[in-house]
Amino acid sequence: MLSPDNAPLLFQPFTQRGLIAKNRIVVAPMCQYASDDGAPVDWHLVHMGRLAMGGAGISFVEESAVEARGRKTYRCSGLWKSEQVPAWRRVTDMIRSFGSVPAIQLGHSGRKGSCHGAMQDWAPLSAENTRPDEPPWPALAPSPIPDSPAHPLPHVMDRDDIDTVVAAFARSAVLSREAGFNLIEIHGAHGYLIHQFLSPLSNQREDGYGGCRNNRMRFTLEVAEAVRAVWPDDLPLWWRASCVDGLGGAWDLDDTVELALALKCRGIDMIDCSSGGISGNTAMPAVPRTPGYQVGFSDTIRRKAGIATCAVGEITEPKLAETILQQGQADVIALARELMLDANWPARAARQLGIETWWDVLPPAYAHRLERREQVRALYAERDDADMDEQDRLLIESS
Ligand SMILES: Cc1cc2nc3c(=O)[nH]c(=O)nc-3n(C[C@H](O)[C@H](O)[C@H](O)COP(=O)(O)O)c2cc1C
Repeated sequence: MLSPDNAPLLFQPFTQRGLIAKNRIVVAPMCQYASDDGAPVDWHLVHMGRLAMGGAGISFVEESAVEARGRKTYRCSGLWKSEQVPAWRRVTDMIRSFGSVPAIQLGHSGRKGSCHGAMQDWAPLSAENTRPDEPPWPALAPSPIPDSPAHPLPHVMDRDDIDTVVAAFARSAVLSREAGFNLIEIHGAHGYLIHQFLSPLSNQREDGYGGCRNNRMRFTLEVAEAVRAVWPDDLPLWWRASCVDGLGGAWDLDDTVELALALKCRGIDMIDCSSGGISGNTAMPAVPRTPGYQVGFSDTIRRKAGIATCAVGEITEPKLAETILQQGQADVIALARELMLDANWPARAARQLGIETWWDVLPPAYAHRLERREQVRALYAERDDADMDEQDRLLIESS
């Protein structure tokens, strides 16, 4: 068995409020564009099944919209009505059965809604390029500024729209609990609705939700308060932030530190440190996509805001993941694309980090046979086939 006390930090349990994850590896949320009216389908069972089975302590399902118009595409996941709960329950039961914490990311696309999926580069829906039963819908935004020149003008949210969306986040949190999730992350990054309110490039309102930074943070903080009010006290609430806007952006790391402090006061337990999603014409550079490219953000926010952080982005080498934790730059490590390539990355990481019984990261049926294989390999490393005794033969036969 793994012995938590001597294990590398990556394999030590992570505790927050009443939640205990068996290790510090997190499956990052990954949109699949495969849902049926917001509800997960068989694809999600297989997709999340292989990820949870691979041994991560926490398994996030993809960004799920808190209302139908908050999806990016008709195939995006969502959790805005009770009819969607049973399908999600199958997913959470399955994740939990592998000893991983079922987690959901809740979000709203705002002006990035009404699009095709990733494989069509999120091209906006138009009467010409979509099915008659899946017409374009008016996307919401803080200001009448489209995401790109290709996007139609969004509908500017009035006070009622703001209240409706804040309430939708809270309702979705309640449904998340009913569906068996033990952790929620609110998607405040990547140029979606919450981020659109934060960045002065997309928010040019003249009411209490625009202008100075505190005003631009108002919608974000209302969402945080509304969700925290309905989410159990003994369960953590995470926040994904774009720590800086994209190329030519305006929202910067100092802004995110202030935001993290404000979120911490409202019961947010973790900042998941991402970046990008809104671009403009300022001198702000793009973040280079090199290994661990967002770890610096995580480090700064953790130190300056005194809040737990999740590092994500091109962290593919187990030693890099362990070093980030050892150096106190993050509390947990999230991976996305590398897990698509190798869902058993946690087992590989355990082996590379020197955990003797690395196979125990995997489910018992796998671990048992992998352990036997290691024993047989050790046997052959010691002696020739001709020198095997009866006990050796039994072991070889059973491997
Ligand atoms: C297929 C795919 C779907 C993604 N969907 C989401 C999502 O739903 N929510 C989100 O915040 N980030 C999403 N991301 C970003 C990842 O969570 C992650 O932050 C990013 O890929 C960087 O991590 P990586 O280098 O380990 O892939 C997605 C990434 C991929 C590859």
